[in-house]
Amino acid sequence: MSHAPRHLLVTGGAGFIGANFVAHWRTRHPESRIVVLDLLTYAGNRANLDGVPDIHFVRGDILDQPLVEQLLRDHALDGIVHFAAESHVDRSILGPDAFITTNVLGTHALLKAARAVWLSGSGVPHRFHHVSTDEVYGTLGPADPAFTETTPYAPNSPYSASKAASDHLVRAYAHTYGLETTTSNCSNNYGPFQFPEKLIPLFLINALEGRPLPIYGDGMQVRDWLHVADHCEGIARVLEAGRAGECYNIGGGAELPNIRVIDTLCALVDAAFAADPGLAARFPCAPAAAGRPSASLKTHVTDRPGHDRRYAINCDKAMAELGYRPLHDFGRGLAETIAWYLANEGWWRAVQDGSYRAWVDANYANR
Ligand code: NAD
Ligand code: TYD
Repeated sequence: MSHAPRHLLVTGGAGFIGANFVAHWRTRHPESRIVVLDLLTYAGNRANLDGVPDIHFVRGDILDQPLVEQLLRDHALDGIVHFAAESHVDRSILGPDAFITTNVLGTHALLKAARAVWLSGSGVPHRFHHVSTDEVYGTLGPADPAFTETTPYAPNSPYSASKAASDHLVRAYAHTYGLETTTSNCSNNYGPFQFPEKLIPLFLINALEGRPLPIYGDGMQVRDWLHVADHCEGIARVLEAGRAGECYNIGGGAELPNIRVIDTLCALVDAAFAADPGLAARFPCAPAAAGRPSASLKTHVTDRPGHDRRYAINCDKAMAELGYRPLHDFGRGLAETIAWYLANEGWWRAVQDGSYRAWVDANYANR
């Protein structure tokens, strides 16, 4: 029987998925001790955890092995859920070094800390859960079967290569030292608290502010969209019932070309403005404020170098072993996500600081 951890160190818990997971786990396990370790990079925000009771927040680096060991010991934690990472493909293309440092060396520092605390002496029951991505499997042709847990790794971007390296280190620590690990490889997440550099929040905010929607290439790249709440449920099930040493794919069952996602988003924004006349006053630059379609902002720009054409996830294993099912229909989930961003304008304005503006200039200037 694999150990089901209760008291967790959550790395990257102030980021998009991490913050959603911390709230999910707190509701599911009110008695659990939760320590969040987050460096609060541009993507992390302490306020993402404001509504979650009884968490111990530490601003710190996963590369700080003595700190991680101290947190595991002082709080008697029996689980690590490892979200902390550099997570944006475009940033990895413009500046890969941070991805190697955080995703590869950072994951290794955490593994060393876990080994030192949990495997010394007679050992302590424990679980190290590593959150990874479907991008480690590379790209699919239109008729290829979806990725399974045994699909060979073929990462194409510096981001996915750094995640693949970290997955391999987790595997090696399980195989060589007997660390009890699980890994989940998920598809593209969407939902509340996603940093507005990623497709859905970026395009939504641009539509509200009347800026172009920069579609890379022909926009026919396919992603499998996973609502973050379904992802969190999947991770919780891996922690509670997953087998140590195993990997589980977690998908959303919503394989769509980008252009369909963008058209759906534009139609939902138009419908929101039609239903609520107050939005036109709040967002006067939006085409929808003047009754014009948001889709008029669509602009095809130079493609991302090395852009993966299609990802698709087969999550039969998680379904069969863990009873996992994605519950969010994409259209409804996207409408709810748009409603969240409209209700939380202060949040997305606050996270778009000077460094974010500099990033937008660097990434989109010459496309
Ligand atoms: P995110 O970029 O929103 O958040 C990352 C968090 O990690 C931030 O809070 C940041 O401050 C923190 N962090 C970065 N470097 C750190 C360090 N050295 N020490 C401590 N904290 C650090 O990322 P996300 O979208 O929430 O993704 C979480 C995890 O899920 C990542 O491992 C990512 O690779 C994986 N993933 C994400 C997606 C997706 O669609 N977002 C899909 C597949 C896999
Ligand atoms: P993204 O949200 O960056 O996730 P990932 O690259 O990890 O899949 O991008 C999702 C898709 O949207 C991807 O095919 C790239 C595309 N995209 C654009 O067309 N324009 C953009 O400005 C961004 C950020 C992404």
